[in-house]
Amino acid sequence: MNKLIAEGKTKQLFTTEDENVIRVHYTNHTTALNGKREEDINEKGSLNNRISSLIFTYLAKNGVETCFLEKLSENEQLDKKLKMIPLEVVVRNFASGSFQRKFNTEYLAPLANPVQEFFMKSDELDDPFMNNDQIKALSIVNDEQIKIMHDMALKINDLLKDLFSKANIMLVDFKVEFGIDSDGKIVLGDEISPDSCRLVDKTTKKSLDKDVFRKNLGNLVDGYKTVLSRLETEAK
Ligand code: C5P
Repeated sequence: MNKLIAEGKTKQLFTTEDENVIRVHYTNHTTALNGKREEDINEKGSLNNRISSLIFTYLAKNGVETCFLEKLSENEQLDKKLKMIPLEVVVRNFASGSFQRKFNTEYLAPLANPVQEFFMKSDELDDPFMNNDQIKALSIVNDEQIKIMHDMALKINDLLKDLFSKANIMLVDFKVEFGIDSDGKIVLGDEISPDSCRLVDKTTKKSLDKDVFRKNLGNLVDGYKTVLSRLETEAK
């Protein structure tokens, strides 16, 4: 019997017969403000499962080591089991969200270089920003591991910018998480979906991501469906 190992805000993780493999179930649960606002939104789980499977397959084809093994069903995939590093790695290309608030910039102002930020994963502390010294001081990872995550996140940014650009979508920013596999290697984990990216239609400047829910702009699923259908066309 598969046992529930962990339950996050939007996913449930189960054991499988292979101790190095987990089954991930994407739920319809949607949260904002670190879980303070929540709602179940029909179809969101299956859309994110499909979008993240497609993106991880694309990244793997282009030399990024990921946890993704196979899409099992509408809402489920098999992933390599990783020991997750408790950091959120954000990369930004245009000003939005917390960056825009912090520096009082114009929404979607282009940034002269991709900006990378680390945040500690902690609901209790509201995911505080961490610099490299703070990460090392708390022994989360070492210098070499910080550099590996930094370089992988930038490579992922280059590949995703290219993919989304062909789909007429601006990659404003995104968040990734990394983990360590059974060989001790740092591998991309978790998911990449419109829940964890800001994606804006290049022509209409409409949000196609979770900002629709955060800012109460309408039906979130419409944007996610647009992202999936455009990526499917691109991936052909
Ligand atoms: O809120 P902020 O501007 O820092 O978010 C940057 C990016 O990271 C956004 O794409 C957001 O969706 C993502 N993010 C996330 N999970 C969090 C915080 C941010 O996926 N807990």
